[in-house]
Amino acid sequence: MTSTTALTTRELDLQHVWHGNLQHHGLEQRPPLEIVAGEGCWVTDADGRRYLDAMAGLWCVNVGYGRRSIVDAVAAQMAQLPYYPLTQSHPPAARLAARLAEMLPKDLDRVFFVNSGSEAVETALKIARQCARRLHPGQSRYKIVARHRGYHGFTMGAVSATGQVTRKQAFEPLVPGFLHVAPPDHYRCASCSAGPACTLDCADEIDRVIRMEGPETVAAVIAEPAIGGGGVFPAPDGYIERLREICDRHGVLLILDEVITGFGRTGKRFAFEHSGVTPDLLTLAKGITSGYLPLAATVTTRRVFEAFQSDRDETAKFAQVSTFGGHPCSCAAALANLDIFDSERLWENSARVGADLAHQLRALNAPAIGEIRAWGLLIGLEMVADRSTRTPLPESEVIRLQRAIRDQGVIVGRNNDTVPGLGNVLTISPPLILTEKEADIIVSAVGAGLERMGL
Ligand SMILES: Cc1ncc(COP(=O)(O)O)c(C=O)c1O
Repeated sequence: MTSTTALTTRELDLQHVWHGNLQHHGLEQRPPLEIVAGEGCWVTDADGRRYLDAMAGLWCVNVGYGRRSIVDAVAAQMAQLPYYPLTQSHPPAARLAARLAEMLPKDLDRVFFVNSGSEAVETALKIARQCARRLHPGQSRYKIVARHRGYHGFTMGAVSATGQVTRKQAFEPLVPGFLHVAPPDHYRCASCSAGPACTLDCADEIDRVIRMEGPETVAAVIAEPAIGGGGVFPAPDGYIERLREICDRHGVLLILDEVITGFGRTGKRFAFEHSGVTPDLLTLAKGITSGYLPLAATVTTRRVFEAFQSDRDETAKFAQVSTFGGHPCSCAAALANLDIFDSERLWENSARVGADLAHQLRALNAPAIGEIRAWGLLIGLEMVADRSTRTPLPESEVIRLQRAIRDQGVIVGRNNDTVPGLGNVLTISPPLILTEKEADIIVSAVGAGLERMGL
């Protein structure tokens, strides 16, 4: 057997790491990037090549790489108390929960900590089902209405809420009780794409589904304010408000999944602020620590929390324990991360530089860009083979384009493996510290990539 020390990182990786959502057959010919360092919006690979990371890792390094204050806060917490479970209490979790409550509308003031976005969604779904039963005794409210193209995570509940067949089909049958409706995709909407704006028929479809299923069987509606990984679909004007009205009308809980959109991505601190709507449950991850350590949270209103209070019913409590959820070092990282977020008002930079970046990308006026959807620094480029018919650019071409842009030194993403035939959206979601100069670099790289491909 070869000693592992004699092997390069790439060899060790190819021999032993099982990468998510990646076909390993033939991976030697197209090995994943080996990133060894990061500073600001930039990462460096093992060969010393620098890339502008226009995906902020996986939509998460909101404050950028190399923030010393986060490193120091984590090191201090490691030395003070490296671990304690939240079956009891510790200062970083209590302080972070209070800090989140302060940032959020008055009602959203109870925080359940977990480790990942998937777990935050899983927790929200479980709370919603139990809460619905407690709020409506005698009814069996368990169904969850979600949208096609939405992404909510990889665990069984979260993947059941996900509306992307290629992420689900190998694991079916999934959790019962999940229903899917059309997303707000004005560009390809069967009902309103010929008109100038979304008519909110897609939101009203949720109302229809709840009525047809029987409201007394429905626990919650779950939605990302902007579908992210499924192809970047920001909620149209009035959409989130309409969801709130529908949920209220039927006594159904509204879960907003802000795993991507939370912490400044869309130009506000949270995307629901664009609408003024308060959800009953809110899921947060990614930007909560900017990826420096794993952490996620499910935040609920007081009303939801109070449904679990009882002085006589032992089964009333929320029976879920997480060993690492609310890890003290992760909470310390989050607190230092939020200090940066607040003091640099990163949501404002996201709005300003995001608008400039979207404007410049539109000005490229490339025939293969069918539509650009942008909300702050969350941008999707819908690539088409033919603008007049809106025929999607084949996925293989989109992959080649993504590679061509990377060859220019800029990493962009792609809605890979979501729904068949529509793997044609390039995604841009850089750190929220992106400067206008760096936005120019992204535009030049996208332009050069398109030109190289003759698109
Ligand atoms: C909206 C949304 N929800 C949930 C998740 C799952 O988060 P994680 O990958 O941390 O489990 C993601 C991941 O990208 C996401 O985009």
